[in-house]
Amino acid sequence: MDREQLKDKDLKYIVHTYNRYDVVVDHADGSVITDVNGKEYVDFCSGYAANSLGYRNEAWLAAVTAQLGKVQHTSNLYYSEPGILLAEKLVERSGLCKVWFANSGGEANEAAIKTARKYGNTLADHKKNTIISLKKSFHGRTLATVTATGLAEAQEVFAPLVPGFVHAEVDDITQLEELTAKYDPCAFLMELVQGEGGVHALDAEFVKAAADLCHEKDILFIDDEVQAGIGRTGTLFAYQQYDIIPDIVSFAKGIGAGLPIGGIICGPKTCDVLVPGDHGSTFGMNPVACAGACVVLDTMDDAFLADVRSKSKTLRSALLSMAKVKGLDGLGLMVGVDLDGMTGAEAVAQLMQEGLLAIPAQNRLRLLPPLTISSEELSKAISILSKVLN
Ligand SMILES: Cc1ncc(COP(=O)(O)O)c(C=O)c1O
Repeated sequence: MDREQLKDKDLKYIVHTYNRYDVVVDHADGSVITDVNGKEYVDFCSGYAANSLGYRNEAWLAAVTAQLGKVQHTSNLYYSEPGILLAEKLVERSGLCKVWFANSGGEANEAAIKTARKYGNTLADHKKNTIISLKKSFHGRTLATVTATGLAEAQEVFAPLVPGFVHAEVDDITQLEELTAKYDPCAFLMELVQGEGGVHALDAEFVKAAADLCHEKDILFIDDEVQAGIGRTGTLFAYQQYDIIPDIVSFAKGIGAGLPIGGIICGPKTCDVLVPGDHGSTFGMNPVACAGACVVLDTMDDAFLADVRSKSKTLRSALLSMAKVKGLDGLGLMVGVDLDGMTGAEAVAQLMQEGLLAIPAQNRLRLLPPLTISSEELSKAISILSKVLN
């Protein structure tokens, strides 16, 4: 089928929830996608931060295909090695206690919200169930995570939303304290690096003060690392750069390296809150996704993470020398670019013409390369960026 026929059928048969860019993907290798016309693009979208190891990573492919040949899926009613090994790795690397597996970021945050609600309703020092999240946050597309999301888009048409959510200003500890006194929350929910909200790394003092408030008032700190987690910021988890220990960390995207998987890692206060019958997911802990995810974590050792930080430095210092770049935000290889005289969406369109895929975040340009990007691919991307941003 040619590209125009494919686009026509897409319009006819698929519910129109995405405005797609005019790229029909054919295949990919390393950090480069090739479309059906043979045009190559360096991929700074990475499947929306999901393809952490790029394309055709040998170790990941071998683990996934071996597991496919062994058993592709089994129910959570039975024990299964890949998920158990993955949970052990996540616990060891996070310093937290136990893992619950889902298939996506929204589903992971839903589990975090249910855990916090049950904790507040039944286990905290007194009954409480309000959750405070931040303005400009994004937590998913389920009804509860849409409600938690602090971007006004796409909320009102789904009314009534889920009760018990309040939104606080970003980086404003005085207001967070006031809202805490007023609403008596069971949890704070925040992305330490806000992705959809413009790739903004939260202020470290704000985060530390919020975590202190949690300790003082028996409030759970839920850290949504769906986009920022699993090596993207230059540490395995973004909270490892913020000097805090969350009660729940949600993860998805990058851990799957392209397969659907998500979940939460729970600390001592939350690891035994959910019990049989409380929650579940048919494909949660799927052995193929978990076998691949084990490779992702094994790949992301100290040397790998140091390399992510060094590539981030190279990319950021190159960007700062470009005429239309006003400033940078985000951490590691999660980069938000403030532009002079052009919107993020305009930059994305021009970059695409030149052979680089990126995405906007509010008015900013967002860059999310695969963490395995080679120095040649990075140099090529920098020369395309400098052509468009100079
Ligand atoms: C911070 C954050 N949380 C949650 C989600 C939702 O994840 P998913 O689309 O896998 O449900 C996203 C997706 O972009 C995200 O960036």
